Order: sequence, then C-alpha cells, then structure tokens
Amino acid sequence: MIVGVQRQMGEATNLRTQVGIVGAGPAGLLLGQLLHLNGIDSVIVENRGRDYVIDRVRAGVLEQGTVDLLNAMGVGGGLGRAGLRHEGLHVSFEGRRHRINLADLTGGKAITVYGQNEVVRDLIDARTATTRPLYFDAECVSVGALDSPTPVIRFQHGGTDHEVHCDFIAGCDGFHGVCRSSIPDGVLTVYERVYPFGWLGILAEATPSSDELVYTCHERGFALFSMRSPTITRLYLQVPPDESIDDWSDEAIWAEMLERMTARDGWRPNVGPILQKSVTPMRSFVVEPMRHGRLFLAGDSAHIVPPTGAKGLNLAAADVLVLARAMKAHYERGATAWLDEYSDVCVRRVWKAQRFSWWMTSTLHRFPGENAFDHRRRIADLDYLTGSRAAMTSLAEQYVGLPMEVSFDSAGL
Ligand code: FAD
Ligand code: PHB
Repeated sequence: MIVGVQRQMGEATNLRTQVGIVGAGPAGLLLGQLLHLNGIDSVIVENRGRDYVIDRVRAGVLEQGTVDLLNAMGVGGGLGRAGLRHEGLHVSFEGRRHRINLADLTGGKAITVYGQNEVVRDLIDARTATTRPLYFDAECVSVGALDSPTPVIRFQHGGTDHEVHCDFIAGCDGFHGVCRSSIPDGVLTVYERVYPFGWLGILAEATPSSDELVYTCHERGFALFSMRSPTITRLYLQVPPDESIDDWSDEAIWAEMLERMTARDGWRPNVGPILQKSVTPMRSFVVEPMRHGRLFLAGDSAHIVPPTGAKGLNLAAADVLVLARAMKAHYERGATAWLDEYSDVCVRRVWKAQRFSWWMTSTLHRFPGENAFDHRRRIADLDYLTGSRAAMTSLAEQYVGLPMEVSFDSAGL
C-alpha cells in the first residue's frame, strides 16, 4: 500500500513507501514479491512498457535453487506446468556429444528450462494481484539523497512528476540503469573483463531435436543448442563482438549453425522459420560493495556474467533473497547486521559464479589469435572434463547452482 499520497496543482506527487525498487526485471519483481510476503511495502518503477519487459528474449536456464525459490514464493504455477526439467546436458567436441548426468552427480538436482519472459510474466501477474504499485513507462527516472534517512526516486509518469520517498532503494535496473551510476565516484571498485566475441542468438519455430542442451566447441567457434518449449528451439553462435545482425541472413545463420553443431552420428538441430534474432556482447563485471548508503544494488546492476554458465538471472534471484532477509530483520526487529553484511554475503557467491562463467566461456570458445597448440589443449581440457567423474561433478554442482547463502526460512518463506 502507498502511504501518504499528496498532490497540489503544479507540484510533484509525493509517495511514501518502505522500499523503492528501480527496475521490473527478475531482480526487482522477485524482491517486490518477497517483501510483500513479509508485509513490507514497496513501489516498483520501470522505464519500459509491460510488453517490452515481457517480450525481451533472454535467459532460459533456472538453477535448482531458483526453481525452489519460485515455488516457495507461491509463483511456481507456470513453471510447474511449462518448465522443462533437464537432468543432464551434452558437451560436444570433435563431432562427438558427451552427456553429463547432472542429477546423478549432484544427488538428484537438475536445471529447468523456462524462459525469462515467462518468469517475468508470472511475477508481473503476482505483483498485480497484490495491488501494490508498479509503474511501467516511467520517464526521467533518477535516485537521490542516498546517504540520508529518506532516499528518493524521482520520475515522470503520464505527464506528472512523481517523488517516492523511501526508507531504502533497491537498484534492480540492470547493467545500463541509473542506480549504479548515481553512486559518487570513488565509492565502488569495478572489476571487468570484456570478451573478444559475442553471441548471435535465434528463436526458431522448430521441434527441439534433443531433450537436453548441447554446448559445442568447434574450430569455427562455439555454438549452443537450447529450447523454450516442445515447439521452439533456441540457438546461439559465437560471432565477432561488433557483428551486425543485419549482416546475417537466415540462410547464413542456419548454414553456420549446422556446420558447427552437426555431430558424427548425424545429430543436428531441426531447421525452421527464425522468429527472432539478435547479437549480445559478452562481459564479466562486478562492482564492490553492492551498497552505498541506503541504496542496495541487486542483479545485473551490480554484476554481469557471460551467458555460457547460464547464471545471470539466477544470481539476481540469490541477491534479492539475501536483501529480503535483511529487510525483514530490519522491519521486524530493528536489526541492521544483515543489511550491513548484504554486499559481503552476495559478493562471495557472485565471484564463484563469475569464475564458473569465465571458465565455461574460456573452455568452450575460440579466442582470436589462437594457434594449433591452444586448440589441442582445449580439446584435451574437454576430453578430461567428459572422462573424469570428479571433473564432471565439479561442472554439475556449479551448473545446477551452488547453495544460496541464506535459508528461505530466514527470508520469511
Ligand atoms: P534486467 O533483466 O536487465 O532488468 C532490469 C530492469 O530495469 C529492466 O526491465 C529495465 O528496463 C529496467 N531499467 C533500466 N534502466 C532503468 C531506469 N533508468 N529506470 C527504471 N527502470 C530501468 N541468466 C540465467 O540465469 N540463465 C540463462 O540461461 C541466461 N541466458 C542469457 C542469455 C542471453 C542472450 C542474455 C543476454 C542473458 C542471459 N542471462 C541468463 C542473464 C539474464 O538475462 C540477466 O542476468 C537478468 O535479466 C538479470 O535480471 P535483472 O533484473 O538484474 O536485470
Ligand atoms: C538459453 O536457453 O537461452 C540459454 C541456455 C544456456 C545458456 C545460456 C542461454 O548457457
């Protein structure tokens, strides 16, 4: 519920809330719902339209812990109906696919393929049902007074200026948002690596030709087979970082996909009409600390991983669980220790996911300037990985997701 809405002619509408959330991606929507479940008020401010936020094609792989979290929050209905549980994945090199049995190696854990679009749609529906405010199409969003007891979110909506006065602000506005850049110079330490390639991704109307993902290392570069549903295939190709999607005809995309992915046993993706295509750059990025004053950064606003490890959305979920626990303790008991520990607790897990994502990326991609030695060494890496139970266990436990740092119970679930 919004407390204290006051408006006079020509003045900004003043709203009061406990937690102001900037961004209605997975991090912002999950946090809003976790706070709601604990009786904590929030206002979510998003600068894009509802359809744009839902239609944006991004993640597909949910860790076991993320699936458990969505279910514990009572927003796992769609996931239960349409999510595809995968107990294994394939790594392919030199034309041969090797299966890694995730469930067997992790005591029964798995990943679930369920599009970020669906996760976001389910969370928007849940938010709407709470009747707590969620502003889409907000313009000129800014945050201020971050060091004061009442930080503020300012924005325009429907031709009116709004100010949301908050106890805390959660910066859930992604890598290009305003929250991180509102923190004064010198406060944050930035750790970054930009990769010399990107991913060209497509959604195709084609029945997935494998029940599980296939990560392919090929002399011409990395390729990935994934899916969204029993009728939609999702595929990616390593391309130069500044590649324009306009330079790739559908025929050229399919020729390159098939060249890289066709295995010696004849397995290959099914071909069909391309419904969507785009190029994404690849980067590793972390800022520390993930807090300044009463502003807490969560998800992609604080860290980016290359998508090879399928970790970004999952990290966002883990961050907001830690934040919700801290907010609950603050409002219920006046305790601030967990707020103070927020960044340290998140960053420890973030770096492990960064390391895994960097390792998956380095092991499976071809880097410009590599020679025959590098290629042979890479094949030996993959040969070792797929032949050693210890090496496969290490991949499996990280791929299905390392334990979340805090219990669901401590966050009120
Ligand atoms: P975002 O999803 O970026 O949400 C931020 C929101 O803030 C957006 O809605 C944005 O419009 C809004 N916003 C931005 N600026 C403002 C502003 N000024 N004011 C108000 N609102 C603002 N992750 C996985 O876990 N598994 C995968 O399989 C996976 N695959 C991926 C594949 C690709 C090709 C890509 C690109 C990413 C993939 N990811 C994956 C990563 C995942 O999509 C992101 O990590 C995830 O979206 C992060 O969620 P977020 O809420 O932190 O940020
Ligand atoms: C996806 O299905 O979009 C996907 C799967 C695995 C990844 C990245 C993206 O590593």
